[in-house]
Amino acid sequence: MLEIAQELKNLLLVATEQAFPDVVNLVKAYGKPLDLHLTIASKPEFGDFQVNGTFTLAKPLGKSPHQIATALLNVLEGNSAFSKLCEKPVVAGPGFINITLKGECLQKEAYKALLDSRLGIPKVSEGGGESQIHSLPIIVDFSSPNIAKDMHVGHLRSTLIGDCLARILEFRGYKVLRLNHVGDWGTQFGMLITHLKEVAPAALTNPDVVDLGDLVTFYREAKSRFDNDPIFQRASREEVVKLQSGELAARQAWQLLCDQSRKEFQTIYDRLNIRLTERGESFYNPYLEDVITALDNLNLLVTDAGARCVFLEGIKGKNDTALPVIIQKSDGGFNYSTTDLAAIRYRFGVIPEGDGANRVIYVTDAGQSNHFAGIFQIARRAGWIPAGGRLEHVPFGLVQGPDGKKLKTRAGDTVRLKDLLDEAVERAAIDLRKRLLDEGRQESETFIEKVAFTIGIAAVKYADLSQNRITNYQFNFDRMLSLNGNTAPYLLYVVVRIAGILRKNDVSINLTSNALCFTEPQEWALLRQILKFDLIIIEVEQELLPNRLCMYLFELSQLFNRFYDQVPVLKATETEIRISRLALCRLTADTLKLGLNLLGIPTLERM
Ligand code: ARG
Repeated sequence: MLEIAQELKNLLLVATEQAFPDVVNLVKAYGKPLDLHLTIASKPEFGDFQVNGTFTLAKPLGKSPHQIATALLNVLEGNSAFSKLCEKPVVAGPGFINITLKGECLQKEAYKALLDSRLGIPKVSEGGGESQIHSLPIIVDFSSPNIAKDMHVGHLRSTLIGDCLARILEFRGYKVLRLNHVGDWGTQFGMLITHLKEVAPAALTNPDVVDLGDLVTFYREAKSRFDNDPIFQRASREEVVKLQSGELAARQAWQLLCDQSRKEFQTIYDRLNIRLTERGESFYNPYLEDVITALDNLNLLVTDAGARCVFLEGIKGKNDTALPVIIQKSDGGFNYSTTDLAAIRYRFGVIPEGDGANRVIYVTDAGQSNHFAGIFQIARRAGWIPAGGRLEHVPFGLVQGPDGKKLKTRAGDTVRLKDLLDEAVERAAIDLRKRLLDEGRQESETFIEKVAFTIGIAAVKYADLSQNRITNYQFNFDRMLSLNGNTAPYLLYVVVRIAGILRKNDVSINLTSNALCFTEPQEWALLRQILKFDLIIIEVEQELLPNRLCMYLFELSQLFNRFYDQVPVLKATETEIRISRLALCRLTADTLKLGLNLLGIPTLERM
């Protein structure tokens, strides 16, 4: 209904100007463009759309929202283009306008959707005038675990949210760079190499001699020595300097360690079916000096206690003093912020060989909000953001255990992602075997394995994505694997249910526009929801909130189940009616499949 929404917006603008000839000038005085705020109706009983803009117009026009709404209605009712699309609009509450589309208009849209594999979602490249901007890449910086450290549930969240946003942007036709900004540089390597030199020296030169297995354990040992032993600490620092100055042995050791971690990370990405281009912190090493020079030339650098910093504007620290971002430490070393500034320069193409992107999206936990606010401000003040360029931090909350505390194993350790995914799949297999037994079904081991894997991974992904990302969420296997509620298994089951119906009857053949005919309220409610899909995708693209898509798909599934349970489909006697109902089944399945696919979740035909 995207096109219809656009048409309604235009009609509303024209109507407003007709009802209030000087409205544009009056609104301009408030520094805002005229906007009637047409949104999807917040409740089905309000119709399809609602207009909220009467409230913002009240002041400039010097009239009550109700008066404005009534005046608009009078004009709209006389407009033939409007009455072709909509039923008689109504003023609701203190001045909203509720708009309901006509049945024939919805039927036409349904027919269009049946023939459109994109289900109404336009490609930006088809967008005309703005296509130049649209051809510039968008960078999604996500996942980004740290070498030799745990890849934890926070990285899982970043991985799933980032992948979903990338999928939606890709589907919209943007060129997306999926960058894995892995922490592959810095003090952790000094400790690790120094420690390994003592306990497993061969591992630093030849990967085949010693199996480093889980580097995380070595890292923990090294860290504890670093924290308690000044001699070890000094040796580690020296090792970092060697690495940064390019000493061969140190470089080689670093390379081996990175390869080791990379292998571990890759097994997780493979299981989740997630594509990423690794471009770690070390990549920006050659560009760090330039950050200092550039900031210095702009007179933004201040030396404070030996460190070179930029003091932030408008972001205050303790005691109301300006907050510094350290760009170069007193020992000459660079840090996380320096790398991120070099990355911004590279990504926006301040550095000629860079990416030339015009939008960069960072998906990390909310704990890094201040970090990003700081470096974004510095980039802006330094003039590194191109015209129309955007830097966006997409923050998310913590993943908690069922007890509401930080997610831990029973023994109190950090949960390893590999174990977590294994457990989800194992539990899905147990549930499935039990269900097969209850239903008296015989299935092959290959079938059980494939279905359990799909359900298990889908459950973990969906549980994460269906939460408003800003809030913390509780990780709960039982809840996420349940066949009831807002869960992946519930949605997957609807797809399976429809696949079963369509196996018996395929409606793709012989469908002509006038063959569609809907009679029952359950059908209309379902169709209205189906047709909102394109609007929802555009909303998610703008607000970067995957949970909106999840909620939409959940509501769609509920409406489908109500329709299918209450309205005869295969048993409908009239052909025209049966075909229309089967068409609704197909549209529901197509929408669910595409929607789940954009969440990174593949669907099944049987489960
Ligand atoms: N490695 C970081 C972490 O584990 C995340 C990096 C996010 N991206 C960035 N450009 N800073 O928290």
